[in-house]
Amino acid sequence: MCSIIGYASRSSVAPVLVDSLKRMEYRGYDSVGLATIDNGRILTRKGVGRVSAVNSSLNLITMQGQVGIGHTRWATHGGVTEKNAHPHYDCAGDVAVVHNGIIENYKDLRDDLIKSGHKFKSDTDSEVIAHLLESYSRKNLNIAQIVSNTCKRLKGSYAFVAVFENGTICGSRFDEPLIIGPADEGYFISSDVLGFLPYTDKAIFLDNKDIAVIEGKDLKLYDYDGNPLFRQITQVAWELGSIDKGKFTHYTLKEIHEQPLTIMKASSRNVEKLKLFCDIIRNSSTLYLTGSGTSYHSALVAKHLLSKFAKIRAETIVSSEFQYDLAPMDSSSVLIAISQSGETADVLQSVKDAKQMGAKILSIVNVPTSSLARISDSFLTIDCGPEVGVAATKSFTGQLSVLYSIIDELCNGCLGYQLSKLELVDALNEVLASEEQIEKIADSITASKDIYIMGRSIHYPIALEGALKIKELAYVHAEGIATGELKHGPLALIDTNSVVIIINPKDATFQDNVASAHEIKARGAMIIGISDEPDDSYDMFIKLPTVGRIHYPFLEVVPLQILAYYLALRKNADPDYPRNLAKSVTVK
Ligand code: M6R
Repeated sequence: MCSIIGYASRSSVAPVLVDSLKRMEYRGYDSVGLATIDNGRILTRKGVGRVSAVNSSLNLITMQGQVGIGHTRWATHGGVTEKNAHPHYDCAGDVAVVHNGIIENYKDLRDDLIKSGHKFKSDTDSEVIAHLLESYSRKNLNIAQIVSNTCKRLKGSYAFVAVFENGTICGSRFDEPLIIGPADEGYFISSDVLGFLPYTDKAIFLDNKDIAVIEGKDLKLYDYDGNPLFRQITQVAWELGSIDKGKFTHYTLKEIHEQPLTIMKASSRNVEKLKLFCDIIRNSSTLYLTGSGTSYHSALVAKHLLSKFAKIRAETIVSSEFQYDLAPMDSSSVLIAISQSGETADVLQSVKDAKQMGAKILSIVNVPTSSLARISDSFLTIDCGPEVGVAATKSFTGQLSVLYSIIDELCNGCLGYQLSKLELVDALNEVLASEEQIEKIADSITASKDIYIMGRSIHYPIALEGALKIKELAYVHAEGIATGELKHGPLALIDTNSVVIIINPKDATFQDNVASAHEIKARGAMIIGISDEPDDSYDMFIKLPTVGRIHYPFLEVVPLQILAYYLALRKNADPDYPRNLAKSVTVK
């Protein structure tokens, strides 16, 4: 959601902090702030907008000091204003705090603190942390005690980093990531390894309720009782090189174009781990799949294939509903959790609930060092490199690629997935070559207010995914519909202003879809067909190459991603950073 960075160095930290925040901006990007320590004084600059814009107007990089913290915000409590931008302060201005997460009991804490004389300046939940630190600082406690007493008062999820006037940085976490980066010049502390990766590839992943204290070039870790802790240093392998846009104008377009490569990479490593994964699935009595947003859509595709080809029934539960729909699980149950970031709060909550009932947890993630990977019994990675665009594109097809490999293994190669990958890559390249045609289609439907996307069977989750892309990138109402459901209600919405996209490859769903297309046509809607077979009901047609039938989902989603991208451009929306959204949704 928000990104946090802190750095204690031997040289000026402001340019490094700004650079780190730019790299993590995908996590949240409505306001930015920095606090540095200059000659025993806290300097602050903060403002509303993206990092580059705020840096241009406030010259963040010129702030003096060898110790500092920074933050980009994705508002949860309190509007997007300068006063609500982090860092937040105590009354005396002796400590500055940046926070990620939600303090659920902030109203009670705030009322108590106000009663004892504290004055609040913002509308955020985060500010209570600064005032709690201040009140415990007055009690002649050491820094670990100050932090632990503060944390013990907080309910909810948090990762926070505070800097005191004397240059001490401290931080703690509960259900939000916080990672230390030991570098040559000093220590980083960040919500994301991307915050410090150009400076060090070493990381110390803090556990819930760990306290970190950085004083000069010393790092000390404590538990909430003040006992010193030791945490292993991990080497992080992450393809930093790919965090630039290359020849593309946006990350989103670049990531769409990377898909032929990333689906190849997705399931090529970890053959032994894949077998282990499949053994655990084979030995399970009940199998569940969960995920949020796009990752949930890949679970829906997998459910279908598991049943059809591996003869395994699985239940899919969207992560935000998991806790209300607790399926009976025990030690013979397996939950497969799918998440690009591995940090989505709803997914992590589902995993915790399932674990509590004794279920085994398998996960599919892009970030191997993520919280989800670390709490799973086993995990597979999609290896698609950093996905910066908020809209999931290459991670979706990466997830499909891993899921196809799993199902192929479970059915002893009946999908022929590994063998057909090269054919799939050629076909994807062919679809990507239709970009110009799809851009023109975007031009012709820019004014439409409602877009319906329909598909049956394995293509229905792709209709849902396409609709999600159009909603989040172009801010146009779009709905994914199982084509057969049309006559059970949605047909009432169809008129001459409607745009209907039919995902209709030449498989068992083709004839029924054609019948539905003609019903839609009779109501005057504009129809866009996505298929390897034309039909006279289509006003516009995006031709797919013919591939093995089960491989169509990979090809169908790409034109929808491209369409959403160009619709966003036509609407003057930034496709990389859609309004109101963040890449990692680490709050519930
Ligand atoms: O990191 P995750 O895969 O857990 O994220 C889940 C969703 O928040 C994510 O897929 C979201 O729906 C995308 N922005 C959709 O493009």
